[in-house]
Amino acid sequence: MSSSLLQKVGATVVKLSKSLRVQLLCWILLTLFGAIGFNLYNSFWTADATAKLVTDRTLLASARAIAEAVRVDEGGNTQVDVPPAALEMFDTGFGDRVFYQVITPWGSLVSGFPDMPLPAVQRVGEDRIFRGASVRIMMLDHPVVGLPGDGAISVTVAVTHNSQYAMRRQLWLSDFFKQFILVFVASLVTIIGLQRGLAPALRLRDAVRERGRNRLDPLPPEMVQTELQPLVHALNDHMERVQNQMAAQRRFVSNAAHQLRTPLALISTQASVAAREKDADRRDEALVALRDSTRQISRLASQLLTLSRAEPGSRRPRADAIDLSRAAREILEVHAEQALRRDIDVGLEADGPVVVEGDGTMLREMLVNLIDNAIRYTLPNGRVTVAVRRADGQAIVTVEDNGPGIPEAERAQVFERFYRIIGTEAEGSGLGLSIVREVVDGAGGNVTLSEVEGGGLVVTVRLPIK
Ligand SMILES: Nc1ncnc2c1ncn2[C@@H]1O[C@H](COP(=O)(O)OP(=O)(O)OP(=O)(O)O)[C@@H](O)[C@H]1O
Ligand SMILES: [Mg+2]
Repeated sequence: MSSSLLQKVGATVVKLSKSLRVQLLCWILLTLFGAIGFNLYNSFWTADATAKLVTDRTLLASARAIAEAVRVDEGGNTQVDVPPAALEMFDTGFGDRVFYQVITPWGSLVSGFPDMPLPAVQRVGEDRIFRGASVRIMMLDHPVVGLPGDGAISVTVAVTHNSQYAMRRQLWLSDFFKQFILVFVASLVTIIGLQRGLAPALRLRDAVRERGRNRLDPLPPEMVQTELQPLVHALNDHMERVQNQMAAQRRFVSNAAHQLRTPLALISTQASVAAREKDADRRDEALVALRDSTRQISRLASQLLTLSRAEPGSRRPRADAIDLSRAAREILEVHAEQALRRDIDVGLEADGPVVVEGDGTMLREMLVNLIDNAIRYTLPNGRVTVAVRRADGQAIVTVEDNGPGIPEAERAQVFERFYRIIGTEAEGSGLGLSIVREVVDGAGGNVTLSEVEGGGLVVTVRLPIK
């Protein structure tokens, strides 16, 4: 069978049923039927050969019986008294007609039909048409004592095919019946085998289905056969990842709640103080503190929102073309007042537009957080430089400051949610660098922290230019 035919059969099998059991059964039965078809074809020709052989033997026996009855009388005449048994041996109940002919070596007819065809070789059966009937025919040369030169007479016997064909049919049918029983038994055994073979997979399906929403402990791989165990391992790995994700989510929610509780408690106290305070100056002081706490909490809320938007899958993928040089300039302009307040010298190094494709809003949020950190954590009179350039098919943004920097041991941790370096005085929620990392990962780039000579931090973001 050619491979394209096999593919077509395979596609039909898959189209007929999506069930693995039915598909396997189809393949096995298809193979079985193919083998049996071949067998039946073969057994037909074997039955045909056997029936021919039996007919030929009978023809030979009949011809010999007739030949042995040939006599030469005293006058030199050849005679034959055909024994009835020689012709009766063909009487098998299928209404066959028998023909014979006996001729002398010089061609004169002794007995039988004068116009019978002569087979080419003696003792070999041939199929011929005689008097409108299809016959099996055989010729035998037999020496007869008394013939001139002890010559041989030729006896030709022919019989119609009824009995031969009936025998062939019978032999073939009995084979057919045997094969049929074989297919039946094989199908039964296959169905039972498939049922048993697929039972563990069905048990696995039920085990997964019956699990509650929060049950994520691993499934025992031994519950299925070796071939299916990688599937169970993959399932277990997946469940472990989901479990870790859920734990991270819980941690995040509890951290967020914790972070919200502190400023909320402060707001409540400051509001009570302001309400009670009679002295106008002291009340103003409490109100300013109340405003700062409110700002802090609103900053935390907006950082939480940005982080949730930056997480993979939370926004539809976008392909805005964003010029990082221009975005950096605009963000620096917005932060100019904050920098001025702290006497920080802010600079931008950009030769021209550096355009990347991605989520414009999120890429801006990334720049906002990096610039905000640099201005916030650099000491007064410090310096912040943002540089945007392109190199090796990448957009490279560096935000450099001459502040305290981040100790090497903490450079990985600062990307974790809510992580803040102990002793950091400036306000913050610890989410800025987590947002940066999510955005950069989502855009297919990377971010690294390093130290500037003489102190300070440089954050380098590399983004692919598509
Ligand atoms: N440029 C910097 N120089 C020195 N330390 C920094 C710098 N940027 C970040 N850090 C340190 O890393 C910590 C984490 O920064 P991140 O931006 O994630 O949070 P945050 O600034 O504290 O809060 P948020 O940005 O969410 O308001 C900061 O608390 C700070 O200690
Ligand atoms: Mg920050």
